[in-house]
Amino acid sequence: MPRLNVNIDHVATVRQARGGTEPDPVVAASMAELAGAKGIVVHLREDRRHAQLRDLEVLRKTVQTKLNMEMAPTVAMANIAKKIKPEMATLVPEKRQELTTEGGLNVVKHFQKIKSTVNALKKENILVSLFIDPDPKQVEKSFETGAQMVEIHTGTYADTKSEKAMERELIKIENAVDYALDIGLRVSAGHGLNYFNVEDIALIEGIEELNIGHSLISRAMLVGMDTAVRDMVVLCGD
Ligand code: PXP
Repeated sequence: MPRLNVNIDHVATVRQARGGTEPDPVVAASMAELAGAKGIVVHLREDRRHAQLRDLEVLRKTVQTKLNMEMAPTVAMANIAKKIKPEMATLVPEKRQELTTEGGLNVVKHFQKIKSTVNALKKENILVSLFIDPDPKQVEKSFETGAQMVEIHTGTYADTKSEKAMERELIKIENAVDYALDIGLRVSAGHGLNYFNVEDIALIEGIEELNIGHSLISRAMLVGMDTAVRDMVVLCGD
């Protein structure tokens, strides 16, 4: 069963709403770890709309499990990752106007740029994952970049309204996971997962980790971080 990694971006979103110092995503990360999270995920966006460089710097010193830095595949972000040295980096597409990461990387189209970012990070002994849609072409190209892992985008699955469409998306995800494993990639999944839709994804064999943010942080606001993480750990079967 997959390990749960908690994405703490939205703790930073609330802090940034007032531009102050609370709530502190660093404290949230420690609480998530105490409750059973096996990793902490932070997306340092180019527009710095939630997490700040300071958060990464302090988290690097405090995270006890594993720090996964989400970042755009750019030279500037790779230089920051080299200084922070997270255990892992996940390359994601970024658009300024989007509310959240919309879809996976187009590795087929941006192959050279992604490959050179993968190389730069691997030289620093950072494990590299590519966030991609459940599409065999993207899986294959991801392998060719030299990345060791892919994170399968579950957003379309999470957004579907009908049971039939959900079933179709689930099959796409299962096929992408199988193909990635077959060609030697490690696999995680995430985006849009919540307390009601996570179990079917957690049951897919071969997914090592689930990266969950918005639903978990939303629930933590109401019931506390400890309960929110523990309940999700149970659903992940971890
Ligand atoms: N995985 C990736 C690559 C993401 O960009 C995000 C959102 O920041 C997540 C997982 C978590 O998505 P959600 O906040 O919808 O749980």
